[in-house]
Amino acid sequence: MTDSVPSTEVSSARRYNYWLGGTDNYPVDRESGDAIAARFPSVPLAARENRKFLGRAVRHLSGLGVRQFLDIGTGIPSAGTVHEIAPGARVVYADHDPLVLAHARKLLSGSTAYLHGDLREPEPILAGARGTLDFTQPIGLLLIAILHFAKDHDQPHTHVSTLVEALPPGSYLAVTNATLDFAAPDDAADARRMLGHEMEWRSAAELGRFFDGLDLVEPGIVPVSDWHADESDRPDPAEVSSYGAVGRKP
Ligand SMILES: C[S@@+](CC[C@H](N)C(=O)[O-])C[C@H]1O[C@@H](n2cnc3c(N)ncnc32)[C@H](O)[C@@H]1O
Repeated sequence: MTDSVPSTEVSSARRYNYWLGGTDNYPVDRESGDAIAARFPSVPLAARENRKFLGRAVRHLSGLGVRQFLDIGTGIPSAGTVHEIAPGARVVYADHDPLVLAHARKLLSGSTAYLHGDLREPEPILAGARGTLDFTQPIGLLLIAILHFAKDHDQPHTHVSTLVEALPPGSYLAVTNATLDFAAPDDAADARRMLGHEMEWRSAAELGRFFDGLDLVEPGIVPVSDWHADESDRPDPAEVSSYGAVGRKP
């Protein structure tokens, strides 16, 4: 289990922070980020579009009356954290990167908590979340731009289903996952060569397996920029290469 990402090794949290314009990253993260962006210049756009999906999903669920969120794979805090988007909501944040833990105080307000935890060990996350969230009331489980770091051999479907099973009816699962469904063949081949050791791109059907037993919220599994978006000038799905979807637990 990866519990620590030293400053000499690339951290997905710090590299994402770099792409989002943050300063909480090391040379090794910037070098990796620049190398990927040199081949795939729209990667920072994809990071921003994933953050925008997070905002739209949380606002949508808040509009449906959801007042509690479990955000696993929180990342280094940046503008638009869940409790900023949904003021007053109870929020539990969790990430396995110690640098996120080091910044956790920025995530703490009256009704939030931070857990150092790993998606691949869902029980301690659930146990910790029970201190803040009321598991008799609907909860929005947020897995934004994290599942593509969970390779299939890590059994993410089992872990997600453990989390979803613990949620009461009327809860929601919101997910984004990188995909190569829109990529040109040479782009897909280069992406696999450069990042295949750390990423699991998923097709819409593969992502759909995480929603087994849930009712997909309209419009279903779609390019992340298209989910409940109101902007007319949305980026091309091939530039963002991410699916987004939300499902409701009946
Ligand atoms: C690309 S960032 C996404 C951050 C945030 N969810 C967002 O959308 O802006 C992915 C985050 O997931 C975290 N992460 C990756 N694998 C994880 C795991 N197995 N358990 C917990 N966190 C994980 C990383 O440390 C990183 O902070």
